[in-house]
Amino acid sequence: MTIDHDVARNVELLGERSGGLKPRVGIVLGSGLGPLADDVTNAAIVPYGDLHGFPAPGVGGHVGRLLLGAISGTPVAMLHGRAHYYESGRADAMKVPVRTLAALGCEALILTNAAGSLREEVGPGSVMAISDHIALTGVSPLFGEAGDGKFVNMVDAYDPALRARLHETASAIGLILHEGVYAWFCGPHFETPAEIRAARVLGADAVGMSTAPECILARHAGLKVVAMSIVTNLAAGMDDVGLSHDQTLSVAAMAAGDVRKLLLAFLADWPT
Ligand code: HPA
Repeated sequence: MTIDHDVARNVELLGERSGGLKPRVGIVLGSGLGPLADDVTNAAIVPYGDLHGFPAPGVGGHVGRLLLGAISGTPVAMLHGRAHYYESGRADAMKVPVRTLAALGCEALILTNAAGSLREEVGPGSVMAISDHIALTGVSPLFGEAGDGKFVNMVDAYDPALRARLHETASAIGLILHEGVYAWFCGPHFETPAEIRAARVLGADAVGMSTAPECILARHAGLKVVAMSIVTNLAAGMDDVGLSHDQTLSVAAMAAGDVRKLLLAFLADWPT
């Protein structure tokens, strides 16, 4: 089966399960942000296993289900669970899910993740809007893609207007929203202190193991992208706290309330 075929079958099945809901915004939940799924009202919940070409997420804190419903009155499609490059060595693991959201009619994709911060003053629990990324893996989710559409323009890949609105929303609800460049490392191991020093020289403010390939896929599919990181730790070598996935999950869960408030307000004000 081709990818287009998988996407078409997913759109049909999701239309049936949701009573024809047409989402305007897609959302990908990062590590520890599962509770945000509770904000989707009247949700049709579809396990990834029922969909074609969807991943079977394998990391603690990542389940696999798509929710179709509304947040603050805006119709959304939420991906609760993502696949990472490190699970399969495939950078295109999220190709079908992202294209399915685009084919359902989403105009924008909100990506969330947990990340390590390279800035001392942006400590655990902080929220950072992503302004740009550096793909240090050297791979693309569009390897092998047919057609000239694969030569995606990545200038302003993280939509400046939507990001400005996100900052306005954060100010309005009294939340400090940092901004910075996200460097995509392959994982699943954490970085070495030398890699973090190198990433800082290159211009990174945060590091993580996801998001960048999804942004590339989304831009290829014509979706606007907004992305934010929950800082769960200072990056390797910056302090004495040993890095672990447990820490990522527990700190992300503690800060999830802030991201939740931000998303509720951001989506309440979605332009028509
Ligand atoms: N590095 C990579 N990924 C991460 C980190 C980190 O320090 N923290 C949370 N996800």
